[in-house]
Amino acid sequence: MKKFEIKTKIYFGDQALKRLTEIPYKKVLIITDPFVVQSGMIDMITGPLKKGGVMFDIFQDVVPDPPISKISEGVRKMLSYRPEAIVAVGGGSAIDSSKSIREFALKVENYGEVGLIAIPTTSGTGSEVTSFAVVSDREAERKYPLVSPSLTPEETILDAELVRSVPPAITADTGMDVLTHAIEACVSTERNEFATALAEKSIEICGVFLLRAYLDGNDTHARQKMHVASCLAGLAFNSASLGLNHGMAHQLGAMFHIPHGRANAMLLPHVIEFNSDINKHSKSRKEYLPAVKKYSTIAQILGLSSYNKIMTVRSLVNWVQFMLKEMDIPLSVSQMGTITEEEYLSKLDVMADAALADGCTATNPRKATKADVVQMYKNLW
Ligand SMILES: NC(=O)c1ccc[n+]([C@@H]2O[C@H](COP(=O)([O-])OP(=O)(O)OC[C@H]3O[C@@H](n4cnc5c(N)ncnc54)[C@H](O)[C@@H]3O)[C@@H](O)[C@H]2O)c1
Ligand SMILES: [Fe+2]
Repeated sequence: MKKFEIKTKIYFGDQALKRLTEIPYKKVLIITDPFVVQSGMIDMITGPLKKGGVMFDIFQDVVPDPPISKISEGVRKMLSYRPEAIVAVGGGSAIDSSKSIREFALKVENYGEVGLIAIPTTSGTGSEVTSFAVVSDREAERKYPLVSPSLTPEETILDAELVRSVPPAITADTGMDVLTHAIEACVSTERNEFATALAEKSIEICGVFLLRAYLDGNDTHARQKMHVASCLAGLAFNSASLGLNHGMAHQLGAMFHIPHGRANAMLLPHVIEFNSDINKHSKSRKEYLPAVKKYSTIAQILGLSSYNKIMTVRSLVNWVQFMLKEMDIPLSVSQMGTITEEEYLSKLDVMADAALADGCTATNPRKATKADVVQMYKNLW
């Protein structure tokens, strides 16, 4: 038996932030990062809250790839302020911090039901509608995806005004995270028709609007579309889960602090080649791995379908590489110029073990051995 559920109410479109004037809470804790406060963007949140007569306090210490120490600071803040709801404002890091803070605080002291309203300021993680939160253990150089239905926000507000200020490099990274979520959801062993419908729409939007949003951050239409695509992909992978791409990307983030979306983007051509067992030397054959059919559908949606299966999958890989080049995302770790070859190669063994143990890897369409993963990391150099 399978189940498909959307728990989170989604408010979107022009003036979506007006929802904050009518939320059913009188006292909230805003959890956000310093950028949102310093840039003044916070006024777009506090303004409607004041109008609605909602009391609030702000915890603004979220850092990218939230470490456990910051989560415990937030837990202390929540237990002393005792809000009826948390309003998470920021990228995946702020939303994941909020999810973890609520979860752990209520485990320490369950003082009642606490709502969570997620307001994303990047179009990337889809965390506003998922039951996942990723936390980092800085000392162990590991990232852990937490998964529990109780992490899922009750509401999300998708207002593209909040993403207007996202600089091109972060638009590129987070946009490629959206695309990776949607592609992994389509090929996952847990894929299903509901998730695929959402993922395919997300892929179609990325194909048309990601480059536009990157080239002109003030292209409101493109920004709105990418904001919706991010949420659609989140709904898709919340149901179908992800795969090896995310399992491997988490290790690059934990070990070398490569931004999450960028790590996914760089790995994507390699993982498509592995999952399809098709590379630039492949010849056509009688039977293909199951993922090939799914990748062909994705290629069709992107307008890339070609003469035969091999050429179609190759065109998808080429298109992903084209997107990376257009958006100045390095194609290899060596191209980044910040990590030495010796340093990188010395971590491959540990990263491969951690990638295989990562919760996302279990639903990858093709089982990978340690040697496969090491080889993919090597190819990424
Ligand atoms: N929970 C999930 O389902 C899920 C899925 C994928 C990734 N993640 C996690 O989410 C995190 C990444 O989130 P992210 O990619 O959204 O980045 P982020 O939240 O780490 O933010 C990246 C940077 O962008 C800045 N920023 C955010 N909004 C901005 C805006 N409107 N204008 C200008 N700058 C802005 C932030 O201040 C920060 O410096 C990682 O920890 C990743 O592991 C979670
Ligand atoms: Fe992701």
